[in-house]
Amino acid sequence: MTNDIDRILYTEEQIYKRVKELAQEINDFFGNSPIVAVFVLKGSAFFASDLIRWLEMDVTMEFMSVSSYGLESVSSGKLSIKKDIDTDVAGKNVLIIEDIIDTGITLTTLKKLFQSRGAKTVKVVTMLSKPSRRLVEFEADFTGFEVPDAFVVGYGLDYADRYRNLPYIAALKRSVYEK
Ligand code: XMP
Ligand code: MG
Repeated sequence: MTNDIDRILYTEEQIYKRVKELAQEINDFFGNSPIVAVFVLKGSAFFASDLIRWLEMDVTMEFMSVSSYGLESVSSGKLSIKKDIDTDVAGKNVLIIEDIIDTGITLTTLKKLFQSRGAKTVKVVTMLSKPSRRLVEFEADFTGFEVPDAFVVGYGLDYADRYRNLPYIAALKRSVYEK
């Protein structure tokens, strides 16, 4: 598995430190207001679990699994929901927890979905962002690290469902995904 790694981008120690800093920013922003933390599966599972344990307000955990229809999703607002959350978010503070923002399509659409469901606030925290790949303008409210345009795996991120269990974040060798 590690033979497929081109280089490590962020080590376990760097991730630990940054996750704690992000939690502090989120604590400062929400104060004592309760939030609904939406884990966007599967990629954000490790990040979200690590992050929410540093949050100081009341947090409920919800899980969601989605895929977009590309640019069409942004205009139509349609999203393929493979698993939806179990709770009504009307009037609540929602924090969407994502692994990586690439084109920006998924998060633009997901944010609109929660707004249309009547959430009081919808904020987005992402572990990673690839700004060079945006097709629609989208900035998360809280971002862990910006990464170059390479395929990134580990700490929950996958390629063909592999490498999620690597404890660090790494760029995959191009030969792995370009063959
Ligand atoms: P958008 O809609 O922003 O979608 O293009 C983001 C989704 O694309 C996946 N993605 C990646 N997954 N390594 C991954 O493991 C990557 O480098 C990568 N780039 C994009 C990811 O599922 C994210 O939710
Ligand atoms: Mg994802």
